[in-house]
Amino acid sequence: MKKFVKPLKLGNLTLPSNILYSPLAGCSDYPFRQMAARYKPGVMFCEMVKMDALIRHDPNTYHLLDYDPSMRPIGGQICGSKPELAGPCARLIEELGFDLVDLNCGCPVDKVTKDGSGSGMLKNPELIGEIIANMVAAVSIPVTLKIRAGWDDACINAPEITRIAEQAGASAITIHGRTRQQKYRGEANWDHIRECKRAATTILVFGNGDVFDAEAALSLFIQTGCDGVLVSRGTFGRPWIADDIIRLDSALPPSTPNVRDHLLEHMDYICSYRPERRALLDMRRIGCWYLRNGSGTKSLRASLNHSKNLKEVKSLIVNYDWSQTAFN
Ligand SMILES: Cc1cc2nc3c(=O)[nH]c(=O)nc-3n(C[C@H](O)[C@H](O)[C@H](O)COP(=O)(O)O)c2cc1C
Repeated sequence: MKKFVKPLKLGNLTLPSNILYSPLAGCSDYPFRQMAARYKPGVMFCEMVKMDALIRHDPNTYHLLDYDPSMRPIGGQICGSKPELAGPCARLIEELGFDLVDLNCGCPVDKVTKDGSGSGMLKNPELIGEIIANMVAAVSIPVTLKIRAGWDDACINAPEITRIAEQAGASAITIHGRTRQQKYRGEANWDHIRECKRAATTILVFGNGDVFDAEAALSLFIQTGCDGVLVSRGTFGRPWIADDIIRLDSALPPSTPNVRDHLLEHMDYICSYRPERRALLDMRRIGCWYLRNGSGTKSLRASLNHSKNLKEVKSLIVNYDWSQTAFN
């Protein structure tokens, strides 16, 4: 059987595999990455940071870029549309020790697109080329970018942007198969990813969108010929998904991760990193992620959502009868 998962050379960097974990604002935080590090994705990313905030050394922005060596290879993602900031910001990411720097051209939020940043950049492919060229000139780590298929169905320009990014010196491009207009609704159209792979000569093409299990990851390789798969919401409550994909690719039986233990471990990481109130809010959300694929967990999820403090969260998890729950 043909294998899809393999190590990958990205500029001067060798990735242990071509299964990557996405930048996810509000989600790919330090505790999440501590969990993910156990499963060694090819790369993981911090949450995106705004160029303007990075350049003025905003402490909250720097906090988002905390990482530890277990998380390597690790990428920093920057978001902005000012070419004069792109080089200096890429250099700051390199100076912080990141292994690669990525440009966000996919964020659909109005607040971000209104100044032409995020997916707003899709309307200006030449500007993407200029920004990527400035980043490439400023650093020696690989420069990558993440785009959507296009602004809307009437303007699908991901293949054109792939060619422009390649010319500007980017090492890889990730294509999220939705348009900006779709935001996160509807299905990702993987045909657009296949078109980008066809348009690419040297640049690596990573596919993204709707990879929620190992089968989907392998289908994405098969349907598009992409060089790697970037998993996004599929990592929520499943930090082990890279391992699932590697096992399926090698025709090995899936592992059966102990969800209770993972949830408690994730909770420990959150509690060591966040103040009490924030940790409680995070645990309500993360608890639901881990439980959503388990049968009969509805009442536990509801109780977690209404929990008043971390002690209560812990006792709900510890005292739950896990033997009754099957996970798919
Ligand atoms: C909560 C959330 C936060 C996100 N944050 C980022 C981000 O910081 N940078 C980025 O490039 N994409 C971000 N994305 C987009 C995802 O990386 C991905 O492209 C999208 O969710 C489609 O993949 P999926 O269908 O497999 O989730 C975010 C998505 C979600 C749901």
